[in-house]
Amino acid sequence: EAGALWGGRFASGPSPELLALSKSTQFDWQLWPYDIAGSRAHAKALAAAGYLTAAELDAMSVAFDRLRGAIESGEFTAEEGDEDVHSALERGLIVFAGAELGGKLRAGRSRNDQIATLVRLYLLDHSRSIDRLVIQLIDAIASQASAHPDAPMPGRTHLQHAQPVLLSHHLLAHAWPLVRDLERLRDWTVRASESPYGAGALAGSSLGLDPALVARELGLAGGPMPNSIDATASRDVVAEFAFVTSLIGINLSRFAEEIIVWATREFGFVRLHDSYSTGSSIMPQKKNPDIAELARGKSGRLIGNLTGLLATLKGLPLAYNRDLQEDKEPVFDTVEQLEVLLPAFTGMVASLTFNTGRLADLAPQGFSLATDVAEWLVKQGVAFRDAHEISGDLVRFCETNGLELHEPTDEQLIAVSPHLAPDVRTVVTVEGSIASRTGAGGTAGVRVAEQLGQLTERVRIL
Ligand code: ARG
Repeated sequence: EAGALWGGRFASGPSPELLALSKSTQFDWQLWPYDIAGSRAHAKALAAAGYLTAAELDAMSVAFDRLRGAIESGEFTAEEGDEDVHSALERGLIVFAGAELGGKLRAGRSRNDQIATLVRLYLLDHSRSIDRLVIQLIDAIASQASAHPDAPMPGRTHLQHAQPVLLSHHLLAHAWPLVRDLERLRDWTVRASESPYGAGALAGSSLGLDPALVARELGLAGGPMPNSIDATASRDVVAEFAFVTSLIGINLSRFAEEIIVWATREFGFVRLHDSYSTGSSIMPQKKNPDIAELARGKSGRLIGNLTGLLATLKGLPLAYNRDLQEDKEPVFDTVEQLEVLLPAFTGMVASLTFNTGRLADLAPQGFSLATDVAEWLVKQGVAFRDAHEISGDLVRFCETNGLELHEPTDEQLIAVSPHLAPDVRTVVTVEGSIASRTGAGGTAGVRVAEQLGQLTERVRIL
């Protein structure tokens, strides 16, 4: 019967319009394993406080086993009249435990503390799977970096050629933000592992139930929350999850954007593997970077999930309000999107083929070694301000005469500046430039090799 959890004070049942609006089983039914886990833990707390005998607790446990079996076999499921997962499962418990025993379970708890707990359990579970998937992506990036230990590429700022860097260095620059996202996710786990169970509707329980027992049973290491109002009314933990996962999406999106550009004919930096790219229904020649584009597109959706949730929370008075039912769909969607996106993205990255010849050809173009000329001059004792000017003069000379930086004759060099001895040519090479950047975090091969080790270690100790 509709409204089965709260019919007593009502003369009539809910209108079909109300039921259609308020029903949440279409998305919260998937919380059933967590709901049952919560109920089992709650039953133990009731027994510990003397509200269930040992025999009743056993009978209830058997009923839950049977209910679980019936759900798994598809024999029991949420029905039209069930308002939410909690109502549906209480109906189910009564089927298997009988009305008298089944009717005892609800003492000392509310759907408000239940749902606040279940959403945490769901997010904690899925944070572990997302965590694993991100680690696999970091591994794929690190493998590509190790496979190209000394391939140079044009490093860019403002999308303009800036200075040559190692391809491995650039790739690893996409791994580090993901490592920090994992650290954020692990840190979030600490706050997510506090248990709202026992807070009741908002004021706590008068039955002497032990919320620490429930928290322990549910593996919520943070123990019961200190404030029952906060426990039922706050969703900052859900919002924080939505933020950290949005950031994962955004970090994928930035990498995706580069892959999309790199795969163009004009750039020609990478080739996508056939099995990780798509074709066109009309243009037979097309090979499209759809995985990267979906990563870019879905990151917008994840941001929407986050901002939608934040907007739901803004202005909500304490304690529980039904608005809070709107917290779940955004994060469920975020989880579902990331769980399909990450494996595809990782496969795409792992199977990229880099056109290292083209990357090497382009690396010195656009006068990207001008900084090396300036720094060479500094080493000859010229002040950097003047060195910058002289190097700039050389760039202008080369540009007007259609030359690359290493191409002017000795006479032409001297004409630009008497400081430009022929020796300057020794630094105007991509290899020399890269190898010289041995400062902390620099692109020199030795530093990048070291960096790979640091990355692996940072992931290991997460
Ligand atoms: N389905 C609700 C939610 O997702 C929990 C039920 C609380 N309902 C209530 N009337 N207090 O937040």
